[in-house]
Amino acid sequence: MATYPQLRLRRLRNTAPLRALVRETKLTTEDLIYPIFVTHGRDLRKEVTSMPGIYHLSLDNLLDEVAEIKKLGIPGVLLFGLPKQKDSLGSEAYEEHGIVQEAIHVIKQAIPDLLVITDVCLCQYTDHGHCGVLNGGYVDNDRTLELYSRTAISHVKAGADVIAPSGMMDGEIKAIRATLDHEGFNHTPIMAYSAKHASSFYGPFRLAASSSPQFGDRRSYQTDPANGRMALRELQADIDEGADIIMVKPAISYLDVIARARDRLDYPIAAYNVSGEYSMVKAAAENEWIHEETVVLEILTSIKRAGADIIVTYHAKQAARWLLNQR
Ligand code: PBG
Repeated sequence: MATYPQLRLRRLRNTAPLRALVRETKLTTEDLIYPIFVTHGRDLRKEVTSMPGIYHLSLDNLLDEVAEIKKLGIPGVLLFGLPKQKDSLGSEAYEEHGIVQEAIHVIKQAIPDLLVITDVCLCQYTDHGHCGVLNGGYVDNDRTLELYSRTAISHVKAGADVIAPSGMMDGEIKAIRATLDHEGFNHTPIMAYSAKHASSFYGPFRLAASSSPQFGDRRSYQTDPANGRMALRELQADIDEGADIIMVKPAISYLDVIARARDRLDYPIAAYNVSGEYSMVKAAAENEWIHEETVVLEILTSIKRAGADIIVTYHAKQAARWLLNQR
């Protein structure tokens, strides 16, 4: 075995072409999915205070947005809806003409080959802010499953390509898969938010969607951030229930979970680079404490290096532009 001075690891770092030749991880725009918030109303393009550069868009402003996303080469979007009204059962989540269902129609009509992935959960739609229906103060797992199934089926009927359940109820993948198959949508894939941790990094999103729980927190359903092995069980459970793509969320603080999942599970892995991860970078960049482009590309590359095949990120559009300029 060669050691120093015969071994010189710096040899392969001397020039840019050499470094490129031995580069193990190459981030591309095709790896990225861009989340979008859609809202009722007209001519709205309202910046989210907690997430600079991210907007609430009314449907008439959605077309320009998705055209730009398509032009940048980003393969798909992940839709989040802001309902007209919230209620205890999160009714707008599964309404035929809910905001997400209408947004799907708009996108699919304009750009049929842009992948439309939809978040299936109730927290933006419930007045109490929890991800399921309540029974006393407790989120009732089994009663919630039916509402998730109704939400999922309303999305695919509107034209959604991929369903992404994010509520962390037990059995949600099994329930949704059974409903989709029963209704003739056995070709629609499920991207399961399988290892979704009870994270404080969702803060800016909850401000954006006014979806904070009105009492308590989500620790009775989302995974404990301290538990890597439990995260792997969650991923495995969703595979067993029929998930096609599994997800780890958040991304940066959970790279170990992504890496272990990559080693053990032969399924496509998505990672969600969440709102708090985005907003921290934005805040530091706006203060000129970090260089946004290089920091973002380093973060996204590290998520891919850990083992993610798909990265959901609010930085997708900027990253696509930076990657284009590098070529
Ligand atoms: C809905 C949902 C949340 C996020 C994605 N889907 C919020 C939550 O669990 O409170 C968070 C996304 C982000 O922070 O970027 N359950």
